[in-house]
Amino acid sequence: MRKLIIAIDGPAASGKSTTAKLVAQRLGYLHIDTGAMYRAVTLRVLEEKIPLDDVQKIGELAEGTQIRLERSGSGSRIYVDGRDVTTDIRSPSVTNCVSLVSSYRLVRDVLVREQRRMAERRGVVLEGRDIGTVVLPNADLKIYMVAHVTERVKRRKRDLELAGSVVDSEALEQQILERDRFDSTRDASPLRKAPDAIELDTTDLTIEQQVQFVVSRAQKILKRLS
Ligand code: CDP
Repeated sequence: MRKLIIAIDGPAASGKSTTAKLVAQRLGYLHIDTGAMYRAVTLRVLEEKIPLDDVQKIGELAEGTQIRLERSGSGSRIYVDGRDVTTDIRSPSVTNCVSLVSSYRLVRDVLVREQRRMAERRGVVLEGRDIGTVVLPNADLKIYMVAHVTERVKRRKRDLELAGSVVDSEALEQQILERDRFDSTRDASPLRKAPDAIELDTTDLTIEQQVQFVVSRAQKILKRLS
């Protein structure tokens, strides 16, 4: 049976990761979290203490870094040059710097090339900011996920608290809005809804409802193709 390429884009904490992971599980597809890849490069930039405005050095580092995503139990793990960085890439320092590092074309060129390579086998669910617009404009199904900022703050606060962090809701809201603003206004592949993407507002949806929405769209396409 033909396998699909599914693209899920949207702003920070809109529900992409949870949805992409479960949709991939239900369809037996591979989940590719492209945000985690940008976070991994950012982590290496911080570890190497490369000045954040040294675009050339950051580009070279991205080119020389090996990133691997691996399925593990119900989730996935990310390795940088063989080291498991699944937890480290979620640190506040990475979150604060990731949008800047992601805005550099040299970094995007490297990661987009890798993302396209991973999607060649099809049967993939990619989530990010530019999947439907730039990385895979020919994806079979494109979802643009949004949610009200208050709900997004609530969700991200819960995630961070579960991971043991104490967070202030107002500061978190500012951080989320600032990251969205930066991601949507940069020159290189800004966060944007592809004209042929289906917008899904998850503000009042349960996880099951949002997963079912995407899975049923995918099944409809598969039926048409069979
Ligand atoms: O999960 P969360 O919404 O916090 O963000 P993420 O998906 O982990 O992405 C972190 C950052 O990486 C984003 O704010 C973007 O700056 C960047 N990113 C990007 O530029 N392009 C992508 N395809 C994915 C992420």
